[in-house]
Amino acid sequence: MAKDRVYVFDTTLRDGEQVPGCQLNTVEKIEVAKALEALGVDIIEAGFPISSPGDFNSVVEISKAVTNPIICALTRAVKKDIEVAAEALKYAKRGRIHTGIGTSYYHIYHKLMSTPEGIIERAVEAVKYARNFVDDVEFYAEDAGRTDNKFLATVVQEVIRAGATVINIPDTTGYTLPEEFGKKIKYLKDNVEGIDDVIIATHCHNDLGMATANTISGVINGARQVEVTINGIGERAGNTSLEEVVMILKSRKHLGLYTEINTKRIYRTSRLISTLMRMPVQPNKAIVGRNAFAHSSGIHQDGVLKNRENYEIIDPKTVGVNESGIILTARSGRAALKHRLERIGYKFSKEKLEHIYEQFITLADSKKDITDDDLKILAGKEVKAEELPISLLALQVLSGKGTVPMATVTLNILGEKHTASATGNGPIDAAFAAVRQIVTKKAKLEEFLIQAITRGSDDLGKVHVQVESKGVMYYGFSASTDIITASVEAFIDALSQVQ
Ligand code: KIV
Ligand code: ZN
Repeated sequence: MAKDRVYVFDTTLRDGEQVPGCQLNTVEKIEVAKALEALGVDIIEAGFPISSPGDFNSVVEISKAVTNPIICALTRAVKKDIEVAAEALKYAKRGRIHTGIGTSYYHIYHKLMSTPEGIIERAVEAVKYARNFVDDVEFYAEDAGRTDNKFLATVVQEVIRAGATVINIPDTTGYTLPEEFGKKIKYLKDNVEGIDDVIIATHCHNDLGMATANTISGVINGARQVEVTINGIGERAGNTSLEEVVMILKSRKHLGLYTEINTKRIYRTSRLISTLMRMPVQPNKAIVGRNAFAHSSGIHQDGVLKNRENYEIIDPKTVGVNESGIILTARSGRAALKHRLERIGYKFSKEKLEHIYEQFITLADSKKDITDDDLKILAGKEVKAEELPISLLALQVLSGKGTVPMATVTLNILGEKHTASATGNGPIDAAFAAVRQIVTKKAKLEEFLIQAITRGSDDLGKVHVQVESKGVMYYGFSASTDIITASVEAFIDALSQVQ
């Protein structure tokens, strides 16, 4: 094994799947396993076969479906568990049994009701028994984070003698600090005979938000397998995130360590897990959160557009994020707007851009994010404004319960201002009547359709209008967060075209 290679052991399908509400069926697990294989993980922990027939079956089916990664099955230090795991692994091209027992004071005396000697005996027996079925046996010292280092070294020494090939040092309760955890790994490196012939694994939980830091401290001190989950899912506060550890090792080259993960598949794998497990990723989650590469303040956007590295330590494409990270909000500047418009195919002169920018700021004040659809509408309006002989300059409406709806409109017709007021059976009807007082062309309103473009109440509404004149149909369109304005603009759009 290469000294600098860090093996990635993914436990999304075992520790990750223990999260309430995240259970997957066998078909979904196979889909995940194949995605993990494509991502390039070295070991897939596929389940805990004795725990249920479903878990047993998943280990069998994943073993059949996947070729490259080692397939691992979890057991307690119990003969029956080991036999069932071995049976579940029988189709694996390379199978591993992961057996172990608690080693901390709490686990010895308050969970297993045993003694340190009793624990060593069971650990050794389990490893020896597992070796009858497979050559690859990983031993976990549960709650190693809170286990006395001297006792931990004794247990590890004994299980290596019994034939363990990988030694897992879990921080089961997420209690340790990075320095402590690193020292624990170093202590084992310095005090256990034969430790250099096995792989030391980290398996850190995130109860104090230290899982990634502890894992990195572990590999700096000699661990060469990291046990991780996609999006950091797992019991309680979760496990160590695969994406964080992998990208730390890739970005901080001075550590001199690497994994064989195809980082370009990180984002899509994260989305897959989130969707299948119905577990949303927090927006500010490192590497895979929706905002991980999003820049919304004008200063940052300008900086990123000048040189990405001004504000980004990872190129989003490296993890498979190809969308623009320039998020348009009311704090965005002209550079960001120009950039996003160009990405969707619009190039404007400085003056026109200025005009769109004003409309953009008004829209952004009433709407949280501006999408590409919104931009297309703003840009489309600008293009159309040049062609239209009539445009809306002002609109005022009065409506509500107990009032007669009334509207006043001011139109620009070939450079001249015209104002009119009218009442109607609603604000739109009143505004249309006022428009008709100014634009006297004979045209019958045939269709009037209002649609919300996307989700929220702050979103743009689209209006389509159809008018008929002398047997010919004319179509008008507009969009605005103000539905009455959009209606009047769409009406004017249609009327302008009537001959
Ligand atoms: O957290 C833990 O200790 C575990 C072991 C079963 C490896 O998940
Ligand atoms: Zn765990």
